Amino acid sequence: MTRRRRIYEGKAKVLFEGPEPGTLVQYFKDDATAFNNQKKGIITGKGVLNNRISEYLMSRLSEIGVPTHFVRRLNMREQLVREVEIIPIELVVRNVAAGSLSKRFGIPEGTPLPRSIIEYYYKSDELNDPMVTEEHITAFGWAAPQDLDDMVALSLRVNDYLSGLFLGIGLRLVDFKLEFGRLWENEEMRIVLADEISPDNCRLWDIKTNEKLDKDRFRQDLGKVEEAYQEVARRLGILPEGGPVDVKGPKTVQ
Ligand SMILES: Nc1ncnc2c1ncn2[C@@H]1O[C@H](COP(=O)(O)OP(=O)(O)OP(=O)(O)O)[C@@H](O)[C@H]1O
Ligand SMILES: [Mg+2]
Repeated sequence: MTRRRRIYEGKAKVLFEGPEPGTLVQYFKDDATAFNNQKKGIITGKGVLNNRISEYLMSRLSEIGVPTHFVRRLNMREQLVREVEIIPIELVVRNVAAGSLSKRFGIPEGTPLPRSIIEYYYKSDELNDPMVTEEHITAFGWAAPQDLDDMVALSLRVNDYLSGLFLGIGLRLVDFKLEFGRLWENEEMRIVLADEISPDNCRLWDIKTNEKLDKDRFRQDLGKVEEAYQEVARRLGILPEGGPVDVKGPKTVQ
């Protein structure tokens, strides 16, 4: 295989130049970070599982008319996507109190919210991804009011659809983070869903036991992190045959 030009290496993925102009290859790593990079680790097989899970969820969303960057999965760890201009805003949708919302407002984790709440964070590692308002976003020109309206409308559709999908497999979608990008076709610009949707950026709790099946297991040292990601893939019916392990190194023993 010809070596691809590496465009960007992030905390969880590497972006390579794609085979055609306007495309990128996303390579999913096993690296895990939390608390703005202060906690680092490896979750064996995570990249393989997140590649599959994100493929599955993006495909289902595109079937219901949500535009996404996803084109196709290429192999265990890579997927082909449309290159977009990432809007530097992380959009968080919350259904149940958890994480920073619980901390900020003193609301116990697990409290259902009166309605879904959307929050915005400015993507900046140096600034620790500060929370921002619509005012900051439009005044500083990170997104036009119309772009923001589109992002909110899409996020609510994603929330409705994914909440139902996960409920069907016994999981509560507590909250999740989305990223969007601008895609130009001819002279027209469209806002599309980008990045990934996986247990790295969703909180998923078992409906009956409230067991956490997401990155909080890593953040909070709850153990059985790989198993949690595998369980999500298993319930979605997409666990790769023979498990997610394509790694050549020794398997971690718990
Ligand atoms: N379709 C796309 N086109 C261009 N960039 C993309 C696309 N999808 C995702 N990205 C960007 O690629 C990077 C993915 O890498 P990763 O998730 O590892 O980044 P990260 O360490 O979380 O860094 P960042 O703070 O930039 O999000 C992110 O910066 C993300 O915004
Ligand atoms: Mg990321």
